[in-house]
Amino acid sequence: MEKYVVMGNPIEHSQSPFIHQLFSKQSGIDYEYGRLLVPLGEFDKVATQFFSQGGRGANVTVPFKEDAFRFVDKLTQRAQACGAVNTILKLDDGTLLGDNTDGQGLILDLARLDFIIPGKILSVLVIGAGGATRGILLPLLNYNCDITLTNRTVEKAQQLAQEFSQFGTIRASAPQNVTDKHYDLIINASSSSMTDDIPPIPDSAYGFKTACYDLYYKVGMTSFLYHALKNGSTRLSDGLGMLVGQAAYAVELWYERVPDINPTINILRENLNK
Ligand code: ATR
Repeated sequence: MEKYVVMGNPIEHSQSPFIHQLFSKQSGIDYEYGRLLVPLGEFDKVATQFFSQGGRGANVTVPFKEDAFRFVDKLTQRAQACGAVNTILKLDDGTLLGDNTDGQGLILDLARLDFIIPGKILSVLVIGAGGATRGILLPLLNYNCDITLTNRTVEKAQQLAQEFSQFGTIRASAPQNVTDKHYDLIINASSSSMTDDIPPIPDSAYGFKTACYDLYYKVGMTSFLYHALKNGSTRLSDGLGMLVGQAAYAVELWYERVPDINPTINILRENLNK
């Protein structure tokens, strides 16, 4: 049976083995998927060993996505653009291809939620300018989104906007200047919800029709989504579906098909709320 792992540190709480077990059952593709704890500083050693001992592919999570980017032999365009790899495939010639499916996973979930609509140019506010933001900008720009990027440290947003302007319409804005209610979608790609903080944009940015998406998820509502709700937004989602979406595109890289994410999201949500 073909062997896959998720590599990270820590790794014991990763949902990926469970998600792939569900995908495998659902799709009838029989593959084995486990966890691999990688000691800090030893990504190359552990990955080399895994692939030389028959591993066919891997997912890579915190804190090794940049190590994986440097480690692989070839990159997809979207991995190249975000400077990080979350999915690896060993090709028939033995070389390793690195991909990043995070952004496409987000698009899949946004489409599922009707937060984005094919063929319509959407005005999107993205909050945050770290690794998570880097992972989602290209797929959003490819989807024709018109992006305003804001960040607590505005210089980082300016730098990222400049870097991605070759792919579409993107500008940076200081958080206090984000006052319009015209955004179709606000994506919180900052890590503010991890500490129950609220992104530093004015309350006036949340419109009645604005969909709000937090890349983070937890039991109950994230601080960002709760704040958006209090300020009048009613179309809200956390990032559980994106987690399943990025796993679905890993299956696409490995087996050229994208599993239906709905049943898996429902099971994960039920487990989370137990
Ligand atoms: P990740 O890989 O999750 O993107 P990261 O690269 O460390 O992590 O980036 C974290 C992002 O969340 C940054 O944009 C950070 O803002 P700064 O650039 O100003 O540091 C943002 N962030 C973290 N905590 C935040 C908070 N409490 N409020 C607002 N933004 C926050």
